[in-house]
Amino acid sequence: MSLFTSVRLEITSKCNLNCKYCHNLDFANKNNDMTTEKIKALLISLKKELGVNKVLLTGGEPLLNSDVVEIVQLLTDLKIKSDLVTNGKLLTEKMINNLSKAGLKRIRISIDGVGDEHNKYRIGSNVEELWEKCKYIKNNTKINTVVHTVSSMHNANKMFDIYKKILEVKADRWRIFDVGYEGAANQNIKELDVSTYYHEFMDQMSRTLRHYIEHSLINKLDIEANGVFKTNLLTKPPMLNTYEEKNKYFKKILNLSPCAYIQHQSTIRSDGKGTLCQFFS
Ligand SMILES: C[S@@+](CC[C@H](N)C(=O)[O-])C[C@H]1O[C@@H](n2cnc3c(N)ncnc32)[C@H](O)[C@@H]1O
Repeated sequence: MSLFTSVRLEITSKCNLNCKYCHNLDFANKNNDMTTEKIKALLISLKKELGVNKVLLTGGEPLLNSDVVEIVQLLTDLKIKSDLVTNGKLLTEKMINNLSKAGLKRIRISIDGVGDEHNKYRIGSNVEELWEKCKYIKNNTKINTVVHTVSSMHNANKMFDIYKKILEVKADRWRIFDVGYEGAANQNIKELDVSTYYHEFMDQMSRTLRHYIEHSLINKLDIEANGVFKTNLLTKPPMLNTYEEKNKYFKKILNLSPCAYIQHQSTIRSDGKGTLCQFFS
């Protein structure tokens, strides 16, 4: 069996935004894109040789590849689950419908705020338009919709509002990231420093998760917090009272991605008691 079955594929290095934290800056706007024929041959061989069954199309900005719909169609024909992450600028209704017809399974739209003032690092993006596009996708297609949010000092105190907006547009999943110090982010480390907004972020997430649990929204929306936030959310779940609440929180919210330890290493404390991972109390 193959060692990996999921691939992240950059179908262009071109980008139409200039994000201040872009981790991919060193690989952007290179003028070295593969031709569509090459991409197609590559996908066919990934399926045949390695049994790849999931491909995330990215870039650069993947919608700047004018053959993106054709590529999605090929993935569908090959029975490979297609996923696409986009800044949404070129996501017209026509494009959404074409991607849907070609069988796109999941779309991730990058939105860092409720309004442009919280989205300051995604220079050239229009947040209001993006929320409308999320709504359109949910109301008119079966594409699973994910919102990607990178945290910063401009949006840390807006996490609850972003969450409310995500509920309003009925997205399926919310993925929250801290800034990875790569590419452009490396040049702005001080300004992007997580410690400047960490506590505010955690307060907002506690409020968010409390609301999420109180309103039993677990089957409506997945929330996934990544990076430096994971550990704290594991060790200090937001004021959960009953066993049922705790059970829901751990099982659904933190079960899969936030704690890789669960997958491979459980802990036995000095008193002989076992926990699923070292960060569970
Ligand atoms: C590099 S972009 C490429 C796809 C597309 N151009 C877009 O903006 O969505 C993919 C995702 O990475 C996120 N991202 C970029 N730089 C990051 C960083 N330094 N740390 C964490 N996430 C980052 C973006 O917000 C976006 O959701």
